[in-house]
Amino acid sequence: MSTTPEQLDFGGAAPLRGRLRVPGDKSISHRALLFAALASGRSELTHLATGEDVHATRLALGHLGVKARTKGEIVTVQSSGAAGLREPEAVLDCGNSGTTLRIISGVLARCPFLTVLTGDASLRTRPMLRVIEPLRAMGATADGRDGGEHAPIAIRGGQLRGVRHELPVAWAQVKSALLVAGLGAEGVTEVVSPAPSRDHTERMLAALGVPLEVDGLAVRVRAGEPEAFALDVPGDPSSAAFFVVAASITPRSEIVLEDVSINPTRLGFVDVLLRMGADIEIVPSGDRCGEPVGDIVVRAAPLHGTVIEGDEIPNVQDEVPVLAMAAAFADGVTEVRDAAELAAKESNRIGTVHQELTQLGIGVEPRADGLVIRGGQPHSGLLKSHGDHRIAMAVAVAAHAIDGSTTVRGWGAVASSYPEFAEHLAALTGGA
Ligand code: S3P
Repeated sequence: MSTTPEQLDFGGAAPLRGRLRVPGDKSISHRALLFAALASGRSELTHLATGEDVHATRLALGHLGVKARTKGEIVTVQSSGAAGLREPEAVLDCGNSGTTLRIISGVLARCPFLTVLTGDASLRTRPMLRVIEPLRAMGATADGRDGGEHAPIAIRGGQLRGVRHELPVAWAQVKSALLVAGLGAEGVTEVVSPAPSRDHTERMLAALGVPLEVDGLAVRVRAGEPEAFALDVPGDPSSAAFFVVAASITPRSEIVLEDVSINPTRLGFVDVLLRMGADIEIVPSGDRCGEPVGDIVVRAAPLHGTVIEGDEIPNVQDEVPVLAMAAAFADGVTEVRDAAELAAKESNRIGTVHQELTQLGIGVEPRADGLVIRGGQPHSGLLKSHGDHRIAMAVAVAAHAIDGSTTVRGWGAVASSYPEFAEHLAALTGGA
């Protein structure tokens, strides 16, 4: 893993040109490792996400006795399935990764031993009862600080029973944890979401031969084991989104982002940008493990404001910080509504986006469930990541499109998902 400097300068508005393959999708990479651990046999994964979050999943599985080896480009996972997992001797440290902690909880809920999980200072403030409570309803013993709301959490798994869960919010991590728990439960486990959310778990498990049924917003699963598999992980659309916005707002840019997951539950940001006047084309090229892949072609274009709200929110939530930067460069007002969940991410993204746009000289009003952003002419300011990888990259995209140089502090946060981001931006702008 490359080391990242603590601060970095961006600016000068050099056009982005050329082709780039971003690292493998983070959500798919977590699931690929977890499903390989649940399969009996040998799975081969290439182009896994390179950041610390996915590494945390790999380390956690190692503590549970799952062997993963890297040789060249290939990560080989050798497992004897859920029955082969063993009680870890140490506390599992999930770092900054909410996805690791929440989805692996679903695996542990069926394992007849004790596991204690924790994370960094940010992860220890993030809500966990949303996954602890439904796992308790299935028969797991699970608890944590503040009645189970905060890590460290402890799970003693056992025989689970299938339950119908109605989620109050479209949380993909919770849905995934419960489906994975359902693979080891008696009877049917059903998860009903109030709106669509990313559906990698459903697509991948179905492709790996698990008895799973999708019926509108309900997903039903029975006990089963995924088959061992080989997967070349598609590029991460949430990482691609930074370059899509950078190319849109930096005049004379034209880029192709190759081999990205074009799963519709991940491309909400493209729909938003198209509504804002962006010039983006999606060119499908195939399907891998149930996941559609393709290229994203982007050319610079003048943007105008839009409204982002309702059922669109679960599918753009990771992209709101960078969409907010697009809004800063757009004509008119952009409103984000129905997005209270943004406050519970790696940072409080309503507060941190508000602070950073203010630094850029943009008129912005924070709301309990979103932001109102008055587009203008952002200027250089003192920008910070707030320890949040997506805030770091979003402000870097804005800083890049401004004349002169702007420093981004706390740059090291990008290591969670995209340690090579600055090198890739430099490669596209001729600075590498
Ligand atoms: C993820 C789901 C989303 C997203 C997160 C990754 C996943 O969170 O914000 O970065 O891989 O399932 P929710 O569980 O809140 O939807």
